[in-house]
Amino acid sequence: TWTSGNIIDEQVEKIRAQVGDKQVICALSGGVDSSVAAALVHKAVGDQLTCFFIDHGLLRAGEREQVEQDYASSMGIKVVTIDESKRFLDALAGVSEPEAKRKIIGREFIRSFEAAQRQLLAEAGDNAKDIEFLVQGTLYPDVVESGGGEGTANIKSHHNVGGLPDDLTFELVEPLRDLFKDEVREIGRQLGVPEKIVARQPFPGPGLGIRIIGEVTFDRLETLRAADLIVREELTAAGMDEEIWQCPVVLLADVRSVGVQGDGRTYGHPIVLRPVSSEDAMTADWTRLPYDLLARISNRITNSVEEVNRVVLDCTSKPPGTIEWE
Ligand code: XMP
Repeated sequence: TWTSGNIIDEQVEKIRAQVGDKQVICALSGGVDSSVAAALVHKAVGDQLTCFFIDHGLLRAGEREQVEQDYASSMGIKVVTIDESKRFLDALAGVSEPEAKRKIIGREFIRSFEAAQRQLLAEAGDNAKDIEFLVQGTLYPDVVESGGGEGTANIKSHHNVGGLPDDLTFELVEPLRDLFKDEVREIGRQLGVPEKIVARQPFPGPGLGIRIIGEVTFDRLETLRAADLIVREELTAAGMDEEIWQCPVVLLADVRSVGVQGDGRTYGHPIVLRPVSSEDAMTADWTRLPYDLLARISNRITNSVEEVNRVVLDCTSKPPGTIEWE
């Protein structure tokens, strides 16, 4: 019979048998899957595991701290944060087209990860050959769909990573391959992964980069981060986290509208709320949030987030709209 305890014991045994005394690396995204996969591997082989967390500058408020403090420190897992925000922002300069953004973010992510690996290998010197394994948070639905989501932030098939010596390839460790998301969450809880991470709603690999309609700049990211934080705070306070699948918050950076605040005319940008209910993200309905909650969100955003003078609600189901705007 399925119990999370059984699965953990079984996987710990399997990981130990596979890895032996070699070194393992893992790219953490801050999401549920990679966090739980790394926690399992850490339980099995402890400090033989090194995690990388690439900060691409497209994260939401508090996400980096969540990984560094709530996750790494509280679980005793070695996490190396690599701040690559300049690399990503430079590469995204002048780009508005959604697919172009996605390709750039995917490409830079892989480059960042490769650079991190090269550095680790250089530091390891003669022991570099001991780094043989790469952890991936692949789930059963990913296996079935072979490849899973459209994004590349999971670098799903990059076990043979370019830019490394030819004879040095990584063998994958995929301890969640037989599991569904709810089972992964249960195992995460058993392993002591913080609830904030275990219960996290889906967030796309390209991050806020595909929630700014128009060019991605640092200032626009700051604007969106501020609005997004207010939305998340209010949804949680209203007890809506269970009901909604996720609520993308989108900045229409290429659109301006006239407003009035105090005695002054403003010419600012709209923020779009995209609350959706869904089983699997393949289809979705827009969530009927209470009007007073919408009013609170709108007031707080327009009062405190500079540049934003309008909040609008996306009431489109999927299909025809996708969940994300890009
Ligand atoms: P769409 O916009 O296609 O989104 O309706 C469906 C689900 O997938 C998430 N999403 C992504 N996840 N990398 C990811 O890891 C991506 O590039 C990506 N694009 C969309 C989206 O948040 C929703 O949950």
